[in-house]
Amino acid sequence: MPQNVQAFIFDLDGVVVFTDKYHYLGWKKLADDQGWELDEYLGHQLRGVSRIPALEIILEHNGVELLEEEKHRLADIKNEYYRAFLQDISTNDLYPGAVELIKAVRERGVRTALASASKNAGTVLDALGLTLLFDAVVTGNDISRSKPDPEVFLISAERLGVSPERCLVFEDAYSGIEAAINAGMHAVGVGDRERLPNAPLCVTDYGELALDDLIARGTGTP
Ligand code: BG6
Ligand code: MG
Repeated sequence: MPQNVQAFIFDLDGVVVFTDKYHYLGWKKLADDQGWELDEYLGHQLRGVSRIPALEIILEHNGVELLEEEKHRLADIKNEYYRAFLQDISTNDLYPGAVELIKAVRERGVRTALASASKNAGTVLDALGLTLLFDAVVTGNDISRSKPDPEVFLISAERLGVSPERCLVFEDAYSGIEAAINAGMHAVGVGDRERLPNAPLCVTDYGELALDDLIARGTGTP
């Protein structure tokens, strides 16, 4: 069978590990400290978005304007809250079937990359012993533009030595699916369809994926 997809690129938070929950709780704690409104609907819009741009979404929603220095101070506080949650992270936080999926595609000769906007991605991978599952790891420390900019995925493809149209991205964020499409890649949305109307294919259970078919055909024209 022809192998149209030569690399699978995985976002981390909300795709491999349920750390998306801890990012939300970190922002929620900061918002509560400051008396800002932040509900789960707004929380979904923060998925995939880099630290300062995510804070700016919350500020805009609340009609608050801050100096750059103050934004960085508050973003640092959220990061401390988030990292406190990471202290207790364990394999119970893994997205069911994610590790099995990554191993299964590697056995089929597909290259794998981790592409996360998070500067904490390395800490999470180390804590759970996941680093060796990936041929390339690209994190928030390697990029200067937040998703939906395709930068994180294009760097991943380059490091893997695979052209973008032969890459398939797994993403739980609307902005992440946009980034994958902007990169000219195949994309699978992870989560509820109503949250990811832009995803060519959507799953909540990795066991439902027809892997050989996905590798042969991708998710349509990238
Ligand atoms: C993404 C998360 O993976 O990383 C976002 O989905 C988060 O919620 C972003 O804001 C940046 O993370 P960090 O750890 O660098 O603040
Ligand atoms: Mg994510």
